[in-house]
Amino acid sequence: MTTDMNSAEFRRFGHEIVDWIADYLENNRGLPVMPQVSPGVLEDALPAEAPEEGEPMERILEDFRTLVMPAVNHWNHPRFHAYFSVSASAPGILGEMLTAALNTNGMLWLSSPANTELEMVVMRWLRQWLGLPESFFGMIHDTASVSTMHALAAARLAAEPRVREDGAPRDLVVYTSEHAHSSVEKGALALGMGQKQVRKVATDAEFRLRPDLLRAAIAADRAAGLRPCCVVSTVGTTAVTSVDPVAEVQAIAEAEGLWHHIDAAYGGPAALLPEMRWMLDGAERADSLVVNPHKWLFTPIDLSAFYCRRPEVLREAFSLVPSYLRTGQDARAVNLMDYGVPLGRRFRALKLWFVMRWFGRRKVERILRSHIEWARELAGEIQADPRFELCAPTPLSLVCFRLKAGDEENRRLVDRVNESGEAFLAGNVLGGRYMLRLAIGHVRTTREDVWAVWERIRRLAADPL
Ligand SMILES: Cc1ncc(COP(=O)(O)O)c(C=O)c1O
Repeated sequence: MTTDMNSAEFRRFGHEIVDWIADYLENNRGLPVMPQVSPGVLEDALPAEAPEEGEPMERILEDFRTLVMPAVNHWNHPRFHAYFSVSASAPGILGEMLTAALNTNGMLWLSSPANTELEMVVMRWLRQWLGLPESFFGMIHDTASVSTMHALAAARLAAEPRVREDGAPRDLVVYTSEHAHSSVEKGALALGMGQKQVRKVATDAEFRLRPDLLRAAIAADRAAGLRPCCVVSTVGTTAVTSVDPVAEVQAIAEAEGLWHHIDAAYGGPAALLPEMRWMLDGAERADSLVVNPHKWLFTPIDLSAFYCRRPEVLREAFSLVPSYLRTGQDARAVNLMDYGVPLGRRFRALKLWFVMRWFGRRKVERILRSHIEWARELAGEIQADPRFELCAPTPLSLVCFRLKAGDEENRRLVDRVNESGEAFLAGNVLGGRYMLRLAIGHVRTTREDVWAVWERIRRLAADPL
């Protein structure tokens, strides 16, 4: 009896699916980005129980096309401008397919040497692209949230070596800006720290962490008998892509003996561009850094690159090897399970390797540079239109703006854009006022796309809202 699908069938459906993906990537501009569906639409359309007997692949694919697809919000669409615009490029998709086929688990070097070694290779390549020194050890996590949690765990252990035996001390304090991503606070919570142990330092007029206030907060905590242990700066904040003064924060971290983690989840790839390298000045001396190729480096979700200059601290925090996983120690045989929480590790490096090789540094630079240029050009257009105002500077590829009207009108404008299907935007509240965020970052987005979306926004804003 054959158990799995036979190879003739696999080939047939595999080719059909690859053809479908190629058509989707080429033609999805014609699809409404955000489906107009109500909650429950897919759940109610599918059987409440799993099938007793297997079903033919034709039926499964038919349901995918007719039931699943209409409920998909098309993140991999050139006019998806909400949150941060991400992309699964074609080479990245091919790499991901092979990862699924091999199904290796890189918990140890021995459990699949290719996983660990390719991970070391791509992490080295990416480190070089970012201009970081060799002293950074790199490994892959699923998300920046998990990378940052590991940084906080290492920072805590560096400050209090007894944490492994005794658990979380109550007097350690983590600092970040009021615009940091919630993953910093969540990471602290996951490690058993309380919200009282996370300080959110105020920012300047351009939403960057204020070093003077950081210094003051550290001094106040020391005076109160607390122990500052870590500062997290952000290169490309979620709300407005502001870039914290990394070198100044680094100098404070050194003077105060704090771990410095840099969250460059979205903004990091732009440091490839010589004209944007300033963002990471000082990062070469930081303790850890995260950058997400699954955000702005054309790699299918999920792939977060986590760099740490003190991997021995990560090991100290997490190494706990059951006897069935003990292997002879060879200095080159890195066992990545020793450096973090997950034991099982997908072969994520493969898709990033495909992306880096297929695009190469020059093409990546050209694409990122055009995203930044279009964002700045669009910011200029918005400023020139008397009905609109910019809400923040545009250092990277996100434009934050609003109609000079009430929050309700701005919210309705976002809804109308999304209902039109032509683009998908997400709003946000900044300084108590609702604003529109238009993120540019998809590998297939063109200048014409950005302009078509802007035209649509202008036309919708001309009607009563
Ligand atoms: C600056 C920043 N850091 C961290 C994250 C979290 O990323 P992830 O979804 O990979 O956990 C985000 C998400 O958008 C982000 O914008």
